[in-house]
Amino acid sequence: MIKVALMGHGVVGSGVAQLLEEKTESLAQKAGEPLYCAKILDLRDFPQTPYADRFTKRVEDILEDSSIRIVVEAMGGLHPAYEYVKACLGQGKSVVTSNKELVAEKGAQLLALAKEKNVNFFFEASVGGGIPIIRPMHLCLAANRIDEIDGILNGTTNFILTKMIQDHMEFSDALALAQQLGYAEKNPDADVDGIDACRKICILASLAFGKHVYPKEVYTEGIRGITLEDVSYAQRAGYAVKLIGKAKRLPNGKNEVLVSPAWVPFSNQLSRVDDVFNGVLLRADATGDVMFYGKGAGKLPTASAVVADIVHIAKSSQTSQSLTWKDSNADTVAPLSEYRHAFYYRLRGAVSQEKIAEGWGMVQNLDRPGRPTDEVAFVTGVLSEQQAIECERRMGKDVQILGKIRLLG
Ligand code: HSE
Repeated sequence: MIKVALMGHGVVGSGVAQLLEEKTESLAQKAGEPLYCAKILDLRDFPQTPYADRFTKRVEDILEDSSIRIVVEAMGGLHPAYEYVKACLGQGKSVVTSNKELVAEKGAQLLALAKEKNVNFFFEASVGGGIPIIRPMHLCLAANRIDEIDGILNGTTNFILTKMIQDHMEFSDALALAQQLGYAEKNPDADVDGIDACRKICILASLAFGKHVYPKEVYTEGIRGITLEDVSYAQRAGYAVKLIGKAKRLPNGKNEVLVSPAWVPFSNQLSRVDDVFNGVLLRADATGDVMFYGKGAGKLPTASAVVADIVHIAKSSQTSQSLTWKDSNADTVAPLSEYRHAFYYRLRGAVSQEKIAEGWGMVQNLDRPGRPTDEVAFVTGVLSEQQAIECERRMGKDVQILGKIRLLG
């Protein structure tokens, strides 16, 4: 029997406990031994659960129990999760986490500690909830160099944008609906401002490039600035507006990593990833494009990924050699000014076609129903971020930029 402990009995932790209880036989068969949830750390009491007698409020009850081989961290947040996980690995216990903040901030360090102790630090559930993405990247695609990742990595913002596109809801109404349905938190900042998506693209980028990409290095823009006017222009031109986490190898050996709203052409499968679903498109050198799609959040989808990690660890006698990356200094991520995209612009003011051509060169003009006469919208050719800013400056003070969105190329 393999003894497992849970740290945190919230949405994910309770889902893990439920799956371990309900699927005892099939999991024992797959793991090669029965998996038993021996202890659950939580400050709250849960007297109605079938495992009410296994709760503890002391982390030492897990750390000092040498019979516990695998610990699941599902508390969320950086502290005390980081200290607890470090202590568990230090005690020679493998750790499975769903905590993207922990992996994005401390992944390299915790992977190194796991290696030193010959145990595992797994985090399939930290990106894409129930979608298998981490293990496919380092095992199934082992023969590939991953050159680019484009991901819809946040269900809440994807739901909001879908409501804006399909039901023409204003951002604030769509956010209120997402909160009402329990998708968005009361404080929605981490989702709406792209922070959650940033942590997830950092994890995928670190794994793809073999060097830690820290959230502070990644330009991150959320969806608060997206309007129904922008969505209307996009739709007429054949694009959906999505919040995209992007990571791409650049010819100079550095990498582009950013989170920002993007116009995604209808020909790209990510344009059809709607509602709370997540989608990740990997561009790999042997397979070409590979697409992953599924539920990126929720109790059982996320718990499913955690339990898969537990089963994998149960069958492993040593540290994974493929789920790893090195720590990095500031040379992994190129500065934003060097990234190159086409851009959508919506301008208001005294702006003629000549002035636009002077500024941006050849552009594709756009239209929408009800476009005011003093509004101009267009898509540029591919420019660097720096060039785009210089073009904006050339427009002068009497031209107001109402919208600016990158195109996913
Ligand atoms: N708040 C996240 C989302 C949950 O909306 O996708 C999963 O990380």
